[in-house]
Amino acid sequence: MNSKQPLPVLPADPLSDGIELWIMAFDSRRHADSDFSLHGISRPSEIDRASRTRRCEFLAGRRCARSALASLGCESAGIPIGPDGAPRWPQGYNGSISHSSSWAAAAASGAGHRRPGVDCESIVGATAFMDMANLVAARDELETAERILGDRNLALTVLFSAKESAYKSLDPGARAGCDFFSFRVLLANDDSATLQVSDIRPSLRMRTYHGLYRRLDPTTILTLVVCKDDLQGPEGRNSP
Ligand SMILES: CC(C)(COP(=O)(O)OP(=O)(O)OC[C@H]1O[C@@H](n2cnc3c(N)ncnc32)[C@H](O)[C@@H]1OP(=O)(O)O)[C@@H](O)C(=O)NCCC(=O)NCCS
Repeated sequence: MNSKQPLPVLPADPLSDGIELWIMAFDSRRHADSDFSLHGISRPSEIDRASRTRRCEFLAGRRCARSALASLGCESAGIPIGPDGAPRWPQGYNGSISHSSSWAAAAASGAGHRRPGVDCESIVGATAFMDMANLVAARDELETAERILGDRNLALTVLFSAKESAYKSLDPGARAGCDFFSFRVLLANDDSATLQVSDIRPSLRMRTYHGLYRRLDPTTILTLVVCKDDLQGPEGRNSP
């Protein structure tokens, strides 16, 4: 897959019904600040002061988000940055945005549908594996994923990404106190490239998420996660 325009990805999964997932490739070396006006995306002051790479990834993420919203019938004026750094979606819509070094993705949904979390990650190398493994997953969780995927670096990246996706799909209140050990990820042991995330915090009553992972190119993966139990109300908030 490669693209310089946002492209839709069909999650092809009943639980992802009503979710628009859009991705695009970008090359920050080719970024020009006039690209913001070219694509009609406003540039917040935080982004004005950021590095060129950050400006480029922000623009790519917002372009994907705008395409996702437009597919849901929402011609949004803009998606500002909220006080906690999360995007502020138009009323009645929700979603999430992610970027790796060369890919951006956004997933969005409206009232009556599940709220998606999305994450793109570059597959970790051996050094990052050593630094991250104990911080991201329990030993048996990682061993199981490695057995299914046949590659420990890929396994750790998928677990990391699925947990980041689950984190993003939570209501802001439920994100407090959350860490990587709040979640356990189990990959399907078949060729469906699907997974299940359990939020094992007692306060969330073993809430479960359904997800999928895809390879965007040989070095990058994407995960998309939705909470099985939550449908958004008309305000775009998850139901209690
Ligand atoms: C916020 C966070 C999820 C971003 O993930 P990341 O892999 O670093 O970066 P990504 O490119 O995938 O995502 C960045 C996007 O996340 C979104 N984001 C930022 N802060 C956020 C927050 N508090 N909540 C939800 N989404 C957030 C933004 O859309 C941002 O892109 P933008 O600034 O261009 O709009 C991550 O940095 C983080 O802080 N995680 C919390 C740490 C943690 O405990 N995670 C474990 C959960 S299991």
